[in-house]
Amino acid sequence: MTIGIGLLGLGTVGAGVAGILGTPEGRHPLVAELELRRVAVRDLQRPRPVPLAADLLTTDPQAVVDDPSVDIVVEVMGGLEPARSLILRAIAAGKPVVTANKAVIARYGEEIAAAAAAAAQGVYVLLEAAVGGGIPIIEPLKQSLGANRIERVSGIINGTTNYILSRMAAEGADYGAVLADAQRLGYAEADPAADVQGGDAADKITILTALAYGGAVPRAAIPTEGIDRLDSRDVAYADKLGFVVKLLAVSQRIAGEGSGASTSAGSDSERSDGSTQWLDVHVHPTLVPRSHPLAGVNGVNNAILVEGDPVGQVMFYGPGAGAGPTASAVVADILNIAGIRQACGQAQGAGLDPLLAAGSWRQCRLVDSQHTSHRNYVRLRASDQPGVIGRIGSCFGDAGVSIQSIVQFEAAGEAAEIVVITHEVLEARFRQALEAIDALPEVQGVEACLRTL
Ligand code: NAP
Ligand code: HSE
Repeated sequence: MTIGIGLLGLGTVGAGVAGILGTPEGRHPLVAELELRRVAVRDLQRPRPVPLAADLLTTDPQAVVDDPSVDIVVEVMGGLEPARSLILRAIAAGKPVVTANKAVIARYGEEIAAAAAAAAQGVYVLLEAAVGGGIPIIEPLKQSLGANRIERVSGIINGTTNYILSRMAAEGADYGAVLADAQRLGYAEADPAADVQGGDAADKITILTALAYGGAVPRAAIPTEGIDRLDSRDVAYADKLGFVVKLLAVSQRIAGEGSGASTSAGSDSERSDGSTQWLDVHVHPTLVPRSHPLAGVNGVNNAILVEGDPVGQVMFYGPGAGAGPTASAVVADILNIAGIRQACGQAQGAGLDPLLAAGSWRQCRLVDSQHTSHRNYVRLRASDQPGVIGRIGSCFGDAGVSIQSIVQFEAAGEAAEIVVITHEVLEARFRQALEAIDALPEVQGVEACLRTL
């Protein structure tokens, strides 16, 4: 029995999905059962890379959701609205949804999950494409790793910035020119600020955090820094010191209660069963030692390292953006739903995703970043005169910051550029040391601070 697909969006990802549905030969036999019935776009005149009958297209996305011949709604239009309302409308109509929209899920995931769970027979909302492009990571976290206590999820989860950083490091390529290439290749968001300012990675780590630890965290409270202010000198110095710079997203379990936490997810009252989980979640450009597995992840590729008990370390690697990889994940979700519909019979409706049925089972709270510990890279400009390095070292020592290495690089004129790598230290102590260093008369300024693995 053919299953009707309604596509909201026919851009990079939508065209990739239409391309797979239009070429079922050699794929799973269920692909041939999927039929594109309506497609919403903004501009009917825009040339499309896939041949589609003109009467499939509409500029009214609600008409796609409401069309009785559409059984599964695929949201690949992006943005917050009308995407959120259309997803909720599909759920209200009992239609399963597949989405690649991490921005919506990171902000409205709880609302959407609650609506899906409350629908008459339950409704599937699947989102494999929202994180990691073609890499399977959502379903593994929901299912295959379900027995684990997750300790840490970290990785490179934005293809655009990894593509930019890789080409800057390998070719000394110009930032603006490489970003334009990433846009042309379909890797970047409609507004690429979401990529380069770290927001897209923050959306994705919000989603991974909820799945890994069983509770939502407030997207807006995640400390986020992108690569847009990264200085190519720091990429070059990192290289000299044996590191590569990557935009890393990290979500880490913090043992113990409180830990100076400041930010709550959801209600202020902690659950009385003691199931609150404290987390350090952040997105930062980070120096990664060349020997680390994430250092070799280049181009548009993403990699996500999941550390859990008892599994140990599991790494997921592959293309993190682009039409083909993302459409691969979207169509896999469609096939999951189609397979369940066929197994249960059309009359059974959509069924309920086991994850949604369980809901979030723990309250997660973010630790105040001042109370988190990291290694750091600092570049500062100082007068090139005897005793300066000693005084800088004393400022670190007085604040209780242990230095791993301190190196002086030549700079123009009388100045020297000094690069320090610290051992792991509490952020509050590190900031205290930087304040003291900034106040030294020989120091012209602390010019860059980056995290270090
Ligand atoms: P895109 O190329 O900008 O395509 C968006 C599509 O949606 C276009 O076809 C556009 O119509 C249509 N659209 C937007 N607003 C609409 C509205 N109000 N009414 C009707 N149609 C509307 O975006 P994309 O790169 O395919 O990304 C789509 C989603 O997938 C986003 O949520 C994105 O974050 C996510 N995603 C993208 C990638 C990737 O590699 N690109 C990877 C993973 C996830 P027109 O064509 O007429 O303008
Ligand atoms: N703009 C996103 C990226 C698309 O570059 O990773 C994939 O989510």
